[in-house]
Amino acid sequence: MYFLKRWASDLDWRLLLLILTPLSLLVFVSLSSSATNPYSLFSSFTPLKSFLSPQTPQSRSPLPFLTSSPPIPSPNPSDSAEQMKKKKRKEELDRSKIAICLVGGARRFELTGPSIIDKILKVYRNSDLFLHSPLDKDSFKFSLLKVAPRLASVRIFKPKPLPENEAQLRVLSSNNSPNGIQGLVQYFNLVEGCLTMIKEYQMQKNFTYDWIVRTRVDGYWSAPLSPENFEPNRYLVPPGSDFGGLNDRLGVGDLNTSTVALSRLSLIPQLDAAGLRQLNSESAFKAQLTTQGVSYFTRRLPFCIVSDRKYSYPPMRFGVPVASLSSPGPLSGAKCRPCKPVCAGPCVADVVGTLYKGWSWTHWSNGTLQLCDAHGDWENGWEKIFDRVAGKKLAAVRKRVSELKLTGCVNDLEEMKRRTVIWDAPPADEICKLGLDRNWSQANCK
Ligand SMILES: *[C@@H]1O[C@H](CO)[C@@H](O)[C@H](O)[C@H]1NC(C)=O
Ligand SMILES: *[C@@H]1O[C@H](CO)[C@@H](O)[C@H](O)[C@H]1NC(C)=O
Ligand SMILES: *[C@@H]1O[C@H](CO)[C@@H](O)[C@H](O)[C@H]1NC(C)=O
Repeated sequence: MYFLKRWASDLDWRLLLLILTPLSLLVFVSLSSSATNPYSLFSSFTPLKSFLSPQTPQSRSPLPFLTSSPPIPSPNPSDSAEQMKKKKRKEELDRSKIAICLVGGARRFELTGPSIIDKILKVYRNSDLFLHSPLDKDSFKFSLLKVAPRLASVRIFKPKPLPENEAQLRVLSSNNSPNGIQGLVQYFNLVEGCLTMIKEYQMQKNFTYDWIVRTRVDGYWSAPLSPENFEPNRYLVPPGSDFGGLNDRLGVGDLNTSTVALSRLSLIPQLDAAGLRQLNSESAFKAQLTTQGVSYFTRRLPFCIVSDRKYSYPPMRFGVPVASLSSPGPLSGAKCRPCKPVCAGPCVADVVGTLYKGWSWTHWSNGTLQLCDAHGDWENGWEKIFDRVAGKKLAAVRKRVSELKLTGCVNDLEEMKRRTVIWDAPPADEICKLGLDRNWSQANCK
């Protein structure tokens, strides 16, 4: 029953929140040249000038994080050998081609988006953003991405039922989710769609990426994605929250390993042939990697998944712990919300210690985790809590989005569209009206 409940809730939530990782990209880079050896880390030639040149003409943007300098680590004479190594690794990555794939629904993107811009896109400034998301009333919030360094491809689509085939019905677990196999197929389609977008872009520009970072629209990043998470021939996943398989809330890998990791629909026949049955998203993900001989490693990462869902407190066995956004972390993709923690310090061991290790369990030692009582809605005053934790820049974006009017939204989305190489989305005013004009959205959505 617990399995059922957890899966049902997670799936429902996922459907709403499917995210594509962000890929920043600027048109002026010589993307048209191509790497001769696409798989080598050193093969790409992204010119240094793109790194140094002014980012965009919109530094007049009212979004405060735009004008601040990016969090590029600066050299320091007392760097230890370890730090030097890290720095060198970062320089290698800055010369390579990185696609950042952001998938899911926009939900609380006014809280998570700016953290993704700051902690990923602006850290890897030559990376290209790919966004794949179902259209809903929150899609207008993507307009804040107009300040992303480099926008390669954006696809915002009207969700529709997808066909289910025999292999999917055999391999995937259906009765555990309110939307049955359909929910999983929708989610897998969202993730694999990002890979399709990346392939299309590569083809159009005649080059290949060295790396793909796959992350979610609802991820709140508290610290930068660090260079040691990029390893050739090994796929990175966060530890914990693995629900009987592998945590599928983020992944980083080279083009080969990422192609396997993101081929969530097209590898189902292979899972079927291997005789695998009744898999959930996480166990299907693990099977994808193992059946294709892709090795993986885990590393704790500084992000959590901002969720509106309610979870009973205290969580037990198969329950889901919800972290306070203020937890020191790294939270490795655990669910979170802005709250006054009800449990911190020694209390956390008592609560998380009861959770099944291979399910919703997440790392908690050394004070990394503080827990919310998430059985109800977000508490009154969550905005203040968020602003304090996230800092002035992010607080300003949150306020700006909450006060956004139709005209401002349309202007922002149009500007984002101008900066995006491949744009496949409904008209800006439709996206904005859906979220900001109640009369319009009631008249147009049955
Ligand atoms: C694509 O790139 C390759 C390798 O750089 C080059 O040989 C080829 O001519 C390019 N093709 C097109 C259509 O530009
Ligand atoms: C990536 O995959 C291709 C084709 O499967 C293979 O030829 C190549 O050696 C792989 N590259 C790396 C770096 O593993
Ligand atoms: C917790 O702290 C101890 C002592 O500082 C350290 O040895 C240990 O590696 C830490 N554990 C984790 C999981 O960070």
